[in-house]
Amino acid sequence: MYVELKSIYKYFGDFKASDDVSFSIEKGKLVGLLGPSGSGKTTILRMIAGLEAPDSGDIFVDGKRINGIPAAKRGIGFVFQNYALFRYMNVFDNIAFGLEIQKRDKKYIRSRVGEMISLIGLTGLEKRFPYQLSGGQKQRVAFARALAPNPQLLMLDEPFAAIDAKVRKELRSWLRETIAKVGITSIFVTHDQDEAIEVADEIIITNLGKVIQSGSPAEIYQNPRAPFVARFIGESAEIENYSVFKGFFPVDGFERAFIRPEFVGLFELGTAQYANSAEEGIVEDVFFRGGEMELRVNVKGIRVISRRSPAELEMQVGEKVSVIVYRLYLFNDSEVKLVENEGLIDREPVFI
Ligand SMILES: Nc1ncnc2c1ncn2[C@@H]1O[C@H](COP(=O)(O)OP(=O)(O)O)[C@@H](O)[C@H]1O
Ligand SMILES: [Mg+2]
Repeated sequence: MYVELKSIYKYFGDFKASDDVSFSIEKGKLVGLLGPSGSGKTTILRMIAGLEAPDSGDIFVDGKRINGIPAAKRGIGFVFQNYALFRYMNVFDNIAFGLEIQKRDKKYIRSRVGEMISLIGLTGLEKRFPYQLSGGQKQRVAFARALAPNPQLLMLDEPFAAIDAKVRKELRSWLRETIAKVGITSIFVTHDQDEAIEVADEIIITNLGKVIQSGSPAEIYQNPRAPFVARFIGESAEIENYSVFKGFFPVDGFERAFIRPEFVGLFELGTAQYANSAEEGIVEDVFFRGGEMELRVNVKGIRVISRRSPAELEMQVGEKVSVIVYRLYLFNDSEVKLVENEGLIDREPVFI
């Protein structure tokens, strides 16, 4: 493993900002550190960068324990949320900053900065000052400045948080492609689940200073192992009395369940293929959401949400429909358990 944190604890006074944090990252991966605000993400980055020292635990990069090494000697690039560009330096000088500190010769600096400027697609803007750039451009410059000295590890702390939604989306795919091109091991912090799912090869979920789960975006999405993860990732409604749905039976120790829109199939009344698993419901609300319709349906007093494409048959408010719940995540205070509709098991699978 290229980066390894082993049982890191960090206190600020009595407050435990890191509580037995361990994780590892393979070389060349782009890892998303995802968690709500205050969950300890920035503290983890700052300890890896050497801006903060853990109270206990070890940090390894490329097989070397780096706890005692000063920040400036760690070879770690850092991109902050608020650009943190030098206001009185132009684009060229901002990107050259780390190379000047390394006392590189002028010729090397010119060629390396040129390379970085072309990587970030800002050729021709070398002489501009930060105030003459858009938010997205500034963040690209911050990225190039962090990358120019050729760090062994790149860390980005909520790099797009201050940028408007549309540009942020473009920057996400830009970042993913650019990091893949450069091949640098990177840690990307965000509190935005969509951003993490879209950008990262692997996601590490934090809450209250702890690592709750890690895995690929698909693993985390499909197999949340803790209720916190199921609530935080994807769109989940919580229900009780889940055994009122046909095909589901009470499980000891699991009183409640999460249900997601993609677990709910709607059919014209009486047409559901699987009568044993279908329930009757009444459409209570229909929302048009551009690419899809969102329907809220009442099934025996439980409100479920489902999505359909507008091309499918329209359903009206007040209409009776057949509802199949394909699966549920049962949960208690600490565990999550995926259960499938038993009426559908051993038959032809329904793909959703
Ligand atoms: N230097 C500090 N002194 C005291 N408390 C701090 C300090 N840095 C962070 N904290 C606290 O530690 C917690 C985690 O902070 P942080 O790592 O910044 O979380 P995140 O980046 O996930 O929002 C927060 O509650 C914050 O108030
Ligand atoms: Mg933070």
